[in-house]
Amino acid sequence: MYLTRLEEKMLEGEYGEALSDAMRVLVKVGEALGAERLIKINHAHVSGLSYLTIGEPGLLFIESFYRRGARTRVYSTMNPVGMDLERWRSLGVPWKFAAKQERIIDSMIKMGFKESMTCTPYLLREPRRGEHLAWGESSAVGMANTYYGAYTNREGGPLALMAAITGRTYEAGLHLPENRQPTVLVKLEEDSFIVDPAKAGIIGYIVGEQMGTGIPYIKTSLNPGFTSVKAYTAAAGASGGIAYSIIEGVTPGYKQYSDKIGGLEKLVITKDMIEEKLPPKDLKPDLIFIGCPHADLNEIAYLAKIIRDCGSRPSAKIWVSTSRRVYREAHELGLIKYLETMGVLVTRDTCPVVSPMLDKKYKIIATTSSKSFFYIPRMHGIKTYVIPFNSLRRQICTEN
Ligand code: F3S
Repeated sequence: MYLTRLEEKMLEGEYGEALSDAMRVLVKVGEALGAERLIKINHAHVSGLSYLTIGEPGLLFIESFYRRGARTRVYSTMNPVGMDLERWRSLGVPWKFAAKQERIIDSMIKMGFKESMTCTPYLLREPRRGEHLAWGESSAVGMANTYYGAYTNREGGPLALMAAITGRTYEAGLHLPENRQPTVLVKLEEDSFIVDPAKAGIIGYIVGEQMGTGIPYIKTSLNPGFTSVKAYTAAAGASGGIAYSIIEGVTPGYKQYSDKIGGLEKLVITKDMIEEKLPPKDLKPDLIFIGCPHADLNEIAYLAKIIRDCGSRPSAKIWVSTSRRVYREAHELGLIKYLETMGVLVTRDTCPVVSPMLDKKYKIIATTSSKSFFYIPRMHGIKTYVIPFNSLRRQICTEN
């Protein structure tokens, strides 16, 4: 692999052992993937920071980089962790867990990471079209490529950490325009499916399940909107390895592919395929979860409106997970206070998937997120169903 003089010095250890190790990892992975050089990135986003998922080995790995002098060289953000940093005590997080989690966060912040703890880093710094990023967190990777037209591979947490420390990533995969061509044409029996974020998530789930990897070209005459694309990319990255989709009317530059899709293999998403994933009509969840990926302001405002329209406290427990940024905005609008008065739990920094806060007393969870539908049963063994946004009212209102 070609390295600049500065990169060679980094690799040789002139700027310290940690930077040298990080360079070595990137060069090795890059060479294995056929990269001819490293490229500079503008933003690194590191996933895999919950003590629940990475445990002691992950904690020691991160601390060793910090202790050996690793520091970020670019704007760098952190994915959600295992607890709400302000309220973990009252939410039943064991103090032993909290102490370990705080050590992880402490090392990351001292290395230069923003105290972001969100899977929606694009709401903190909007990716620009064509810029190179190194992001972990598959849902965010999908958004960066699909919605913003930025270039990032789907990195594992450690590799994104190496990218943050070096300010570079290997030039392979989705960093190369020739690898960003559509491979399957996805048609929807009804375009309107993609407008409901929960159904858009189911579409993503089916696309990921059926394709595994590759680049779907989603044909639609309707603009799904931000929240639906967020739900779609998260699900497609959970049930499969889809890191980039081209959505008509959404993905920057999608028009350049419109004459290349004729000969592609086709996948038709029918009404039946979507309905098969929906729960029975008489579903009685004991927890409704919204915010995977972290809820945006529209989702929080929509939930508040449903509860207001109901005119009574929700019949089921509701948990919303969001980022600090959106929480602050919702707080300024009076939405957080209202939701909390109505018994809704709104957490920051974490989510039920990566946190020990998800109480085993819950037996049935309903969620608007197909990503959570995929992960909650696997991580926590709790039965989980996806419910469309337009049926939230029925689930939430006591009188329905
Ligand atoms: Fe984010 Fe947790 Fe879902 S990290 S994408 S809310 S699983």
